[in-house]
Amino acid sequence: MNLLRRRLLIAAATSVASLWTPLRVRADAREPDLATLRGWISAGIERDSSGAVVRVFGVDQAASDDVFLRATRSDALPDGYAPADLVSAGASGIATAGRQLLRALIVEDTRALIAEAASDGHDLYVGSGFRSQAYQEVVFAAQINRWGDEETANRYSARPGHSHHQLGTTIDFTNTFGAFRRSAAADWLRDNAHRFGFVLPYSVAATNRTGYIDEPWHARWVGQPLAAQLRSANYQDWSTLDADDVIAMVRAEAALDVA
Ligand code: DAL
Ligand code: ZN
Repeated sequence: MNLLRRRLLIAAATSVASLWTPLRVRADAREPDLATLRGWISAGIERDSSGAVVRVFGVDQAASDDVFLRATRSDALPDGYAPADLVSAGASGIATAGRQLLRALIVEDTRALIAEAASDGHDLYVGSGFRSQAYQEVVFAAQINRWGDEETANRYSARPGHSHHQLGTTIDFTNTFGAFRRSAAADWLRDNAHRFGFVLPYSVAATNRTGYIDEPWHARWVGQPLAAQLRSANYQDWSTLDADDVIAMVRAEAALDVA
């Protein structure tokens, strides 16, 4: 499906007033139809008696504006965006490769995920956490140097301003990517990330839509309620939409400030 058609689909999904609808899924890949997705999203947004948003899939309204920012190949973050609550992962008791920063918001879930992986025999650590827009310039330049052209580099690395890592809520749970790809730890992460609020948006099935290679190590925190809902609908195997599309729909439905 081309970008325009996908954008129209998302627009259709986000422009109509949402009513809860019973769960309906396609027989093939358990991909929900748009009415079902709208129902989930509407049900995930808590409002007070005046209709104001209180929580978005368990995330406080104040934090939700940042957590559900759009960052895709075509959607840039606000220029120079950086979250306000970055902390040292290592100083927070989280295993890392080198010095890594994360949003304080995700420290508890990250620590719990790594501890549970360890108790199941898997050695997970933060290979890459927050990356500033300036640092992503360096990362992207290195990929151009490696691959010889920007288009190819952009399949491996987001352009500066477009990376989930700039959110401070995204973690690469390794820095040995080749070895990780077919490891038991990768299987564990795929099967358990949602329990700690993370989604893995860059799946094999999503590569043509995200524009990035599959990255089974790349986990974005969206909170446990949404991550679990997506997992229960097998989001990694969807053929029409991906996790970033759902984030865009959540953002629109909650009327969070458009970046
Ligand atoms: N590797 C992912 C696409 C990033 O650079 O954010
Ligand atoms: Zn990553």
